Amino acid sequence: MGRFIINGERQLSGVLDILAAKNSVLPLLAAAILTDEKVVLHNCPDITDVHNMLAILQSLGSVTSFENGVITIDSSNINNEIVEPKLAHELRSSIFLLGSILSKFNKAILSYPGGCEIGERPIDIHLKGLKELGVHITEEGGLIYCKNNKKITSNEIVLDIPSVGATENLMMASVFADGIVTLRNVAREPEIVDLQNFLNSMGAKIYGAGCGVIVIHGVKRLHGVEYTPIGDRIVAGTYMIAGAMCGGDITLKGINCEYLSSLVSKLSKTTCNIQVNNDIIRIKSKGRHPRLGKIDTMYYPGFPTDLQSQMSALGAVADGISIITENIFETRFKQIPEFRKMGAIVDIKGRTAIFEGVPKLYGAEVKAEDLRGGASLVLMGLYACGTTVVHDIKHIDRGYQSMEVDIRSLGGDIIRAD
Ligand code: UD1
Repeated sequence: MGRFIINGERQLSGVLDILAAKNSVLPLLAAAILTDEKVVLHNCPDITDVHNMLAILQSLGSVTSFENGVITIDSSNINNEIVEPKLAHELRSSIFLLGSILSKFNKAILSYPGGCEIGERPIDIHLKGLKELGVHITEEGGLIYCKNNKKITSNEIVLDIPSVGATENLMMASVFADGIVTLRNVAREPEIVDLQNFLNSMGAKIYGAGCGVIVIHGVKRLHGVEYTPIGDRIVAGTYMIAGAMCGGDITLKGINCEYLSSLVSKLSKTTCNIQVNNDIIRIKSKGRHPRLGKIDTMYYPGFPTDLQSQMSALGAVADGISIITENIFETRFKQIPEFRKMGAIVDIKGRTAIFEGVPKLYGAEVKAEDLRGGASLVLMGLYACGTTVVHDIKHIDRGYQSMEVDIRSLGGDIIRAD
C-alpha cells in the first residue's frame, strides 16, 4: 500500500515548479479522442489518475505514450465505444468519456461509477443533460447505454447545479452539433476554461467558459494539437498551506495566481506574507497563525472543496476557533479522526468541523482515506513533533507526482517506504 515516514518541525523553503492540473489533464485526455489526428499534451503529472485514463484510452483503441511529462495520443484507429467496467471503476473521471465517445461513435457504453471515498457523487446531472440533448439513455446491470439516433441539434440546457464533470461532458457531447447548443448554470472552474481553450485550438467554436453560460457552435471536425494545460491550483494550494503551517519561504512557479484568490484571501488574514506576480506565488510564514475564522467550500470562485482538508490541517494548529463547512461533498471529513490521533481538537457537527487550534501536534501512525485528506495528513506530519507515518499513500499518488520529492526539495524530512 505504501507509506510516508515524516519527521516534522522543519521549516519549508525553496522553489517548486507546478505541473499541469490533474483536473484539466483528465478531461483533455477524454477530449483527445475527438480527433483522428495526433494530440500532444505538455507538462503532465506522472500520477495514477493520468495512467488510469491512458489505460482506458488504450482499451478504446488509442495509441498513447507518456514520457518526461509529454503525453501523445493517436486515436486514428479507435474502434471501441465500450469502457470496460474494471477500468472505469479505477477512475471516477472515466465518466467524462461519455460525452466524447458519444460524439465520436453516436453511442457509448459505460459502467455506473457509483459513490466514492468523499461522497455519493451521482451522475444524474450528466445524464439529464445528455437526455435533453436528445441522447437515448438506458441503464441495466450497472451499465449505462447511450445512443444518438440523430445528430445533436440546436438546444438550450440549464444545469440544476454547476457540476464540473457534467459541464465538461456536455461540452464534449455538443462539439459536433448541427447548430448551436447553449449550456446555462455551468461550472466556472478554470479547468472548464482550459477545456474550452483546448477544444478551440483543435478547431471547435465554444464561447463563454468561466462566465456561467457556454455557447457551442457545432463544427464538422477537429484537428490535432499540441497544448500545455494550466497549472494545478490544488497542488499549488497544498504547498502554500504547508508553507503557512511550517514556516519558511516557498516560491511556486507555473500557477496563475488568480485561480487561488480565495485561498490567498484567507491566508492573507493570517501572519503569512504572500506576493503574487502573474504565474508566480511566494509565501513567507513565521509559523503559528491566528484563527482562520469561518471557511465555507463553494463552487469556483469560492473556496475549493479540494483544499478543505489541507486548510483543516491549518485550522487544527491556528490559535483560536476555526470553523470549516464542507458544502460540496457529504463525507469529506474522513481525515479528522486521524487528526485527533495527532493531538488536534476538533468537533464535527454535520457538515461543519470546529477546530480549537493547538500549538503542538504529535507524530502518530495515520491512514489516508482519500486523495486530499491524505495530503492533509502529510501537512500535519510536517508540522508535528516526532515521527508520523501516513499509510495508504496510493490515494495521494492519484493526484500528486512524487509528493515526497517536492517536499524534500523544500527541506522537509519525508521518505517513501513499502
Ligand atoms: C470535479 C473535480 C473534483 C472536485 C469537484 C468539485 C475533476 C476530475 N474532479 O469533480 O476534484 O472536487 O469537481 O469542484 O475535475 N453532483 C450531482 N449530480 C451530478 C453531478 C454532480 O448531484 O450528476 C453533485 C456532486 O455529488 C457534488 C457536486 O454536485 O456534490 C459537485 O460535483 P461535480 O462538480 O460534478 O464534481 P466532479 O466533476 O465529480
